[in-house]
Amino acid sequence: MSDSDVVEKSDGEEKTDPGAIRHGNFMNYYQFHPAEGRVRQLPRGVWQRQRVAHPARKYAGLDVGCNAGDLTYILRDFLEETMSRDQPEISLIGVDLDPILIEKARERNSRPDRVTFECLDFLSEDCGEMLRRYLMQLNKTRFDVVFCFSITMWIHLNHGDDGLEEFLRKVCELAEMIIVEPQPWRCYKNASRRLRRAKLEDFPLLKELKYTRNPVKHIEDILRRLCDFQRVTVTAGNEWGRMLLIYERKQES
Ligand SMILES: C[S@@+](CC[C@H](N)C(=O)[O-])C[C@H]1O[C@@H](n2cnc3c(N)ncnc32)[C@H](O)[C@@H]1O
Repeated sequence: MSDSDVVEKSDGEEKTDPGAIRHGNFMNYYQFHPAEGRVRQLPRGVWQRQRVAHPARKYAGLDVGCNAGDLTYILRDFLEETMSRDQPEISLIGVDLDPILIEKARERNSRPDRVTFECLDFLSEDCGEMLRRYLMQLNKTRFDVVFCFSITMWIHLNHGDDGLEEFLRKVCELAEMIIVEPQPWRCYKNASRRLRRAKLEDFPLLKELKYTRNPVKHIEDILRRLCDFQRVTVTAGNEWGRMLLIYERKQES
């Protein structure tokens, strides 16, 4: 398996065509990419980066592009287990621009007091305002962690290089630590090919991109240069060759 949006045969042909999709809002995403395996790569012991713990031990996470919520729920279990010694009160919010996926995520919510889903475009002003209100209710100014799993390509394809920069800047403004799982360049090609095969308009900005070929390198560069974040660790590739980039805010002196 080579990427989370298409299952490829060894000769590069697509075995399972997930359909022509513009924003990565696949309805059956977790049938092909079970969420359980996705957290295996996550390191332990990096999760509480704030030097001064929150007085009420409140821990807040944001999952950007949460799809139907499967991974959000698993991430919450992971955080609870990995921080079980300190037993913080963990709250997670997932946002996604697809209303059907958000509805699906909400239907299975057994902890609505701690897990919330909102249908919003992360790049919209409304989303920024809603997230600030969410943090205010928790008496926090930033999320302890923001997860960006398999979303950067969709932002990049639909909003270009400037959109990718804006996305990462917004994520970092809201975060103490971020986890980014970028899609490799061949996934961009596959997503574009699927649109053309379906006789739909290609991503108009694809030809104008300057951040090509090595999305990981460009994303790390943006995180360091524009967001002033520093590397915590970068994991080895998983079975689809995907790495997790873990970055954090530099401590204010
Ligand atoms: C390929 S899925 C990844 C889902 C999940 N993060 C995971 O890795 O399991 C990408 C998700 O990002 C969402 N998405 C794309 N652009 C978005 C945006 N601007 N704001 C919010 N969600 C977005 C899509 O609707 C889709 O559900």
